[in-house]
Amino acid sequence: MGTKGREIVKLEVPDLVADLTRAYADEWLAAYAYNYMGQVVTGRPAAKNLAALLRDTAKDELEHQQELAERIVSLGGKPVPVISKLIETSNDGYPAPPENERDFEAIVRTVIKAERGAIEVYHRLGAKTEGKDPITHCLVVHILGEEVEHEDEFESLLGEV
Ligand SMILES: [Fe+2]
Ligand SMILES: [Fe+2]
Repeated sequence: MGTKGREIVKLEVPDLVADLTRAYADEWLAAYAYNYMGQVVTGRPAAKNLAALLRDTAKDELEHQQELAERIVSLGGKPVPVISKLIETSNDGYPAPPENERDFEAIVRTVIKAERGAIEVYHRLGAKTEGKDPITHCLVVHILGEEVEHEDEFESLLGEV
């Protein structure tokens, strides 16, 4: 960011970078877990739909980590350089897939729990950045909208699994 771009950020930048970095770690962990669950679900006719939704959602989470990384770097920070630090950096830890990959309901509930955590994180960041950092604000509100959609899509599966 240039001089004026920095000037309009009215928040403690290291603190903001730390918030964004925690969210960045959450996104990688969600992307990995969703993609993994999409790869292993088997055993029922509906599995193909659930697998496709898991993998599509994983792609959204990967986009989110990319968008967060761009903002972190433009604020002068670095995302997480060491992969083994992702879990300790994250807000919510790893959304561990259930042991039984045939337990669709447990899979769906794992995703819903992660999405609710993400909604809380971006809602809080939206409030924190409002009027203080319009670019980060725009980004977190955009991501928040997608997390709200994710929760809704997986909640609507609960009646069917
Ligand atoms: Fe996300
Ligand atoms: Fe999500």
